[in-house]
Amino acid sequence: MENKDNGLTVSYLDIVGDDLTKVDEHIKNVLSSKQKILESALKELLEAGGKRLRPALVLLSGKFGKYDEKRLIPLAAAVEILHMATLVHDDIIDESKIRRGRPTIQSRWGKDVAVFTGDFLFAKTFLLLAHSTTVENMQGLSKVVKAVCEGEIAQYQSRYDKHVTIRQYLKRIGRKTALLFALSCYIGAKESECSSKVVRCLREFGFNFGMAFQITDDLLDFTGNPVKMGKPVGSDFIQGVYTLPLIYAINSSYRDEVIGILDKEDCVPEDVERVIELVHASGGIEYSKNLARDYLKRARTFIDGLVSIPAKAALQNLVEGLIERSY
Ligand code: IPE
Ligand code: IPE
Ligand code: MG
Ligand code: MG
Repeated sequence: MENKDNGLTVSYLDIVGDDLTKVDEHIKNVLSSKQKILESALKELLEAGGKRLRPALVLLSGKFGKYDEKRLIPLAAAVEILHMATLVHDDIIDESKIRRGRPTIQSRWGKDVAVFTGDFLFAKTFLLLAHSTTVENMQGLSKVVKAVCEGEIAQYQSRYDKHVTIRQYLKRIGRKTALLFALSCYIGAKESECSSKVVRCLREFGFNFGMAFQITDDLLDFTGNPVKMGKPVGSDFIQGVYTLPLIYAINSSYRDEVIGILDKEDCVPEDVERVIELVHASGGIEYSKNLARDYLKRARTFIDGLVSIPAKAALQNLVEGLIERSY
């Protein structure tokens, strides 16, 4: 895809790929344990990969100020370890079998080991931060962990609730996902001594991008490729998690048929397919895509005024890529 600033496609890997490799090395050095099972679980996590979007945002945001890799790499590593911790716990709650193309910790070693592995990762995040950053950044990250818990609990509480509103949905995805994206941009910019205006713009960029990111992820439950995703379509609503496309359908003229199926004791594959059809027919997919696009547009406006450096083109390219969901 063409980038309007300089006519070239600029991937975030072009700009911070080398430093992301250093982030991975840092993560590897930090994540070790003499405890045998934990050691194997950590090894599994480290080998599994992932897009490293949040550490990339820390580094890209740092490019708008005095970029100091010695300060930014431990921070970027901490953000990724924190993200990994939330994923390990999320996969227990969602009973997910596959993450990043590999068996999840709990499907391999059981729930107990997975709970402690997640806790271990949280502890490592804060240990790493205690050595490498300000109290203010520690507070910022702690607040995000609090918000993720609140968002996940709000989602749990509203399971099977047919009255859940779009507003409630947006609030919960803000907490469970967008705030970590916002914080990643914030700490990268702040640590690099950007002006308060630039810090604020990047933080807002991260938040709006994060909102679009989760909406797009939720859309995949209706439109995605089950093989690529490692889980069957419809997994969210089968587990009672009603995301934006379905909330829209529940509030459309298709309401009665949708609710009729959702209320059934045992859903057969044909029921799942029918719900997906109804979500399409109601316009729920289009609505969700448009809302994701609105968040991305908003994200872009926050960086439009920033100086035209390659990192800006990379951020713009992330926005374009998310519309197509090519990463
Ligand atoms: C997954 O995040 C969790 C969500 C917020 C949807 P990513 O899609 O960034 O996961 P990785 O890090 O690339 O595995
Ligand atoms: C992602 O939530 C986990 C967090 C934001 C903590 P989801 O359950 O929606 O995402 P996937 O589909 O498992 O990655
Ligand atoms: Mg979940
Ligand atoms: Mg999940």
